[in-house]
Amino acid sequence: MTTQNNFAPGPPGFFPVGKYSKIFKNDPMELFMRINNDFGSIASFSIFGIRVTSITNPVDVKYVLQENSSNYTKSITYNELKHILGQGLLTSEGSFWKRQRRISQPAFKKSMIEGFAIIVLEEIDKVLKSYENKSITDISDDMMKITFTVVGKALFQKDLGERAEIIGKALETSLELVQDRIQTLLKFPLTFPTPTNTKLNQAIHTMKSMVDELILERRKSGGGQGDLMDFLMFTKDEETGETMTDSQIRDEVLTFLLAGHETTSNALSWTFYLLSLHPDIRNKVREEVYPVMRTGLGYSSLEHLPYTRNVIQEAMRLFPPIWIIERSPIKDDIIGGYKVPKGSIVSVCINSIHKDKDYWINPEGFDPERFNAENSAGRHGFSYLPFGGGPRICIGNHFAMMEATLILASIVHHYDLNLTSLAKVTRNPVITLRPKNGIEMSLHKV
Ligand code: HEM
Repeated sequence: MTTQNNFAPGPPGFFPVGKYSKIFKNDPMELFMRINNDFGSIASFSIFGIRVTSITNPVDVKYVLQENSSNYTKSITYNELKHILGQGLLTSEGSFWKRQRRISQPAFKKSMIEGFAIIVLEEIDKVLKSYENKSITDISDDMMKITFTVVGKALFQKDLGERAEIIGKALETSLELVQDRIQTLLKFPLTFPTPTNTKLNQAIHTMKSMVDELILERRKSGGGQGDLMDFLMFTKDEETGETMTDSQIRDEVLTFLLAGHETTSNALSWTFYLLSLHPDIRNKVREEVYPVMRTGLGYSSLEHLPYTRNVIQEAMRLFPPIWIIERSPIKDDIIGGYKVPKGSIVSVCINSIHKDKDYWINPEGFDPERFNAENSAGRHGFSYLPFGGGPRICIGNHFAMMEATLILASIVHHYDLNLTSLAKVTRNPVITLRPKNGIEMSLHKV
């Protein structure tokens, strides 16, 4: 029965009981999949008294993320990220977010992405060089390093130097500890000096003070580097004429560093994993890349690499780098005829949507052709959401696709990467969908 006075159907109780409780502990991503499979495309349950409505129907998803987005803020889960990212684009709201987005948007226009492509190509060369003396590598480690360096250089052109490693380590530590906090229901406030809180506070302090230093240096030098930092520092808001303060710049820098590397890295790692299981598809990528390589890989090659791009899109369908996004209604709402109270959580489980039999034929299969122009025609825009949707769609989506396509094309052209017999690949869905213990692969020069 659908009535505006009822929550959507779902498992009863204060916490998903029985089989759901076990699944939640082992694999929260699977929990959302099961609940929507068992109760339908809109399902609702309580996690320790917090009402969660999980939606997978693209029509409902579009309603929440786009049509009625002004009634939604990000959910409480994002509060933990604020410890690291403050009021950056990912975590801010309302008119403040709008202004920050307006100022930042031009930094991701085509001419900027073309410049970032040069950085990507330089860094690919270094990875390929490092492979010359190796027979085994952890591809997820390699991708994490290259994507971090690329976004670091996009931000700071050349100022980062050895500070990159310190900031990178502190970012990794703080993200891990914040992810633990997200999964722990009862936790001490950060001001309480538990050993974990102290470690997290130290990591956050290290990151912030280093970025502050970089901002100060740039203010002194007066800019002119043409990188993201120049954009953040000197672009005036077209509506108010204001520029960002130093602390706003710092929050955006940390947001770009975090949001801009781990996601792209995961997309690539899972792509290499899938290609090692499907050598026929890897050969097709290689065939497409071969003629492009003869004239030299660059930004303008991207239009000649549609299949390579489709492979990445399909990998992100099966392993969405961000597997869930969440919102919270400001005022009571009705979705699909069911009650969704203000302050509750609406979960858009990207992973479940990407595997919905109503929208995808053979959803578990790896078939990049789904994304060619012919097969994509007529697909509901909100049935494929690796970059989210609506006004809060990822600002770095074109950057990420450029980077991932160039890296994949280049590595596949030179190497076959295959899982080693010791590789035990498991997924670790926390905020992002990482491989749990990396992905060990053997390297064979082609
Ligand atoms: C494959 C790579 C990437 C994936 C899968 C990805 C995914 C996403 C998703 C799903 C969101 C929406 C979150 C929500 O609605 O709650 C998002 C937002 C965002 N992403 Fe990405 N992202 C990627 C790469 C990047 C890159 C390269 C950058 C920047 C250099 C970036 C910066 C951001 C920022 C700043 C936001 C917040 C935008 C806003 O709310 O205005 N992302 N991303």
